Amino acid sequence: LGSVGFVPTMGNLHVGHASLIDRARAETATVVVSIFVNPLQFAPHEDFQRYPQTRTNDLQLCAKLGVDVVFTPDPQSLGLTAQAGLDTDRFLVSPPSSLVQGLCARSRPTHFAGVTTIVTKLLNIVQPDRAYFGQKDAQQLAILQAMVEQLNVPVTLCPCPIVREASGLACSSRNQYLSDIERTQAAVIYQALQAAQALAQAGVVDGAALIDAAAQVCHQVTALNVEYIELVDPQSLQPLLNLQSNPKTTGLLAIAARLGQTRLIDNLLITAVNYRCGESKA
Ligand code: PAF
Repeated sequence: LGSVGFVPTMGNLHVGHASLIDRARAETATVVVSIFVNPLQFAPHEDFQRYPQTRTNDLQLCAKLGVDVVFTPDPQSLGLTAQAGLDTDRFLVSPPSSLVQGLCARSRPTHFAGVTTIVTKLLNIVQPDRAYFGQKDAQQLAILQAMVEQLNVPVTLCPCPIVREASGLACSSRNQYLSDIERTQAAVIYQALQAAQALAQAGVVDGAALIDAAAQVCHQVTALNVEYIELVDPQSLQPLLNLQSNPKTTGLLAIAARLGQTRLIDNLLITAVNYRCGESKA
């Protein structure tokens, strides 16, 4: 039978999803993609009702990429209603509080319990050997990795790199809410991450200084409303006060910002250069 690779999605597939599917195709014998806009992970005031749905295109792309099975359940078949919000009358899988203190959980306090609950359901149904997730949703990935480890879920999670448009904007289904001008402006988020990375590479290890550098770049676009810029440990998601250069620590610098009605997230793993005492910076 061979191994099963699983790519869970909410549809509106783009090149970011295609990269997950390609990787699954290369690594496993049978590739399953699910398309399900999960009501549990949206708060009632969020964009559940208008989340972009492009089923025909999605199915065509899956066929082109050699996907073996596309799983498109409806809410009822998963024991859910089509209403946004956590259904607290049913069994939920909730992440530990340490992983939902900061970053996106601050403005979306129930979002990750919605994700862990639906991913558990999907993993139980599909029973894959490997499941593929993008690193753009870094907090989601850290939470799912902890879930799989702590609940002994028999699957290997495979993190996949962020895919970007030519401007640097991270691919996301929500990019299609952006007007042309907003799409150009949105590129500043990646520029902000890169500015902080450049500083770290120049030897700056202070977390506040790195965050400030990113914030300054974001402020160049006045229409951009920054929700957070945080530097955290990529696994524990606890704030990092500084990047140590020796031993090297890698920090996850993450940004969430709004442009008009559209909420965008992006992140970069950054590492300080490794100096030894007496070594010159050049
Ligand atoms: O990353 C996503 O698209 C969703 O959060 C996921 C993992 C498919 C769960 O609904």
